[in-house]
Amino acid sequence: MPETDTTVQDNQILEEAKKRRTFAIISHPDAGKTTLTEKLLLYGGAIHEAGSIRQRKAARYAASDWMAIEKERGISVTSSVLRFEKDGIKYNLLDTPGHKDFSEDTLRTLVAADSGLMVIDVAKGVEEQTEKLFEVCKLRQVPVITFVNKCDRPGMDPLEVLSNVENRLGIEAIPASWPVGYGRKFQGIYDLIGKELHLYRKSKHGAQKAETEVFSSLEEGLAESTLSEPEKEDLTEEILLIEDMFENMDREGFKKGEVSPVFFGSALNNFGLDVFLKYFQDLAPSPQPYNDSEEHEHNLNEPFSGFVFKLQANMNPDHRDCAAFVRITSGKFERGLEATHAGTGKKVRMSTPHTLMGDERNIMEEAYPGDIVSLFSPGFFRIGSTLYSDNPVKFNVIPLFTPEHFMKVSTKDPFKRKQLREGLKQLSEEGVVHVFEVPQGVGNELLLGTVGVLQFDVVTHRMSAEYGVELHQQPVSYHAARWLPNESEDIIKKLENNYSTHITKDMEGNPIVLFESGYALNQAEEKVGAENLFKYKQD
Ligand code: G4P
Repeated sequence: MPETDTTVQDNQILEEAKKRRTFAIISHPDAGKTTLTEKLLLYGGAIHEAGSIRQRKAARYAASDWMAIEKERGISVTSSVLRFEKDGIKYNLLDTPGHKDFSEDTLRTLVAADSGLMVIDVAKGVEEQTEKLFEVCKLRQVPVITFVNKCDRPGMDPLEVLSNVENRLGIEAIPASWPVGYGRKFQGIYDLIGKELHLYRKSKHGAQKAETEVFSSLEEGLAESTLSEPEKEDLTEEILLIEDMFENMDREGFKKGEVSPVFFGSALNNFGLDVFLKYFQDLAPSPQPYNDSEEHEHNLNEPFSGFVFKLQANMNPDHRDCAAFVRITSGKFERGLEATHAGTGKKVRMSTPHTLMGDERNIMEEAYPGDIVSLFSPGFFRIGSTLYSDNPVKFNVIPLFTPEHFMKVSTKDPFKRKQLREGLKQLSEEGVVHVFEVPQGVGNELLLGTVGVLQFDVVTHRMSAEYGVELHQQPVSYHAARWLPNESEDIIKKLENNYSTHITKDMEGNPIVLFESGYALNQAEEKVGAENLFKYKQD
């Protein structure tokens, strides 16, 4: 029977999706995310010499550095996605701003990724921000692949690193590669999957790929290393103990983020990156179907659909544009395609904003599941908005993340009360900040909640610039918050009498409870059950 056009197109979509790997790096500041990103580009063949991204980072050109690099190297990137292609696989590396600007944006970006690459510093192990980001991967049950960086520095021994990952994150850590020598003696990697030993020689400043000698026998490789005889014996014994672990890895557990394969290396010196990249392509999953709001799997070859996971206002100070970053969940995107906004039914023509792209040639003409497109956002796009071309669908994939920092804000000008509420409501809809009624508060004040403290500055700036409201900030002593179930009257009754507990609601009327201390939170968990106090809330 001849194939119909639809079948051909369906197959093409599935084939294209299979070629994509959409992932995000999860790490704590300083673990080496920027260095590793650059080295992935170097080993991925997208750049020929490393150095410029880090230099630019040092010069603090945060958002614009990608555009400059894009112009120079012709790589297609926006400030949020870095694309490169190796061996026919198209990688979409979603940028998760780390550092001081850690925010809800960072957490939401993970919802658009199919896997996480967890980078940890061999001396520090799993740190706080890594833990928070990992929680989102766990919530979504996406696979996490670990890269232990800076093995050229003194740190934990590899077995200690594995226990650190297991203890801090409650997952199983399975070695996929193993360092040859630690700290200053770090000189190679034993590939536990391919059973080969790689010995490296540093290139100047790590700008070029490391010169590598590959041995198919451990013994032969070790004979060429500078390890002492006792060190060689110890390493051989260690490898005997762990060499079957990867083969026996629980693959289902890995897919659900409960088991993580671990690679060792040094991003700065380009050690271990060849081994890592060789397997990353197969370990990182290609785009997976998302569930719609009815919990039905939405197939990749359905007509175009996607969801907004990030809104970025005023990227170009000359325009008041807002860019929407859309993760494609199904079908083929073509520039100029007309889509429907699921929340309002409004039609939008999807044109890619030029301002986000450094080079005209790189404007996305077509894209497939797993790709991220940036669009001009009409005013009604919200974080989580669904877009579709033919078959109506709605995704509900972005949870409400509980804020960890709180600030009471008010306006001194009694005539600006309305603008205060309207402005903050708008910013909360855009996902910039959570806005709550102040428990037992008065009319001209509201409570803000954020995941990162810098979000308060963004709010203050935008309220002044866009709504003409000067915010008066007043610190408050809330320590934590938990969303409550929709039908929560009984729970509220129980909590209301609790000391140091305050119940309020957000701008959409969702009930939330605020705690003055960790102790108060623990007490409440005992009283009403931790399962009724949500750290993340899905509508
Ligand atoms: P981040 O994006 O996660 O914040 O980390 P980034 O790559 O900026 O790296 C943080 C620091 O760690 C940098 O040093 C970087 O050179 C160093 N680094 C990254 N990978 C390795 C590694 O494999 N081995 C060693 N020894 N260091 C590594 P810095 O002093 O902050 O900057 P710079 O003086 O190197 O420019």
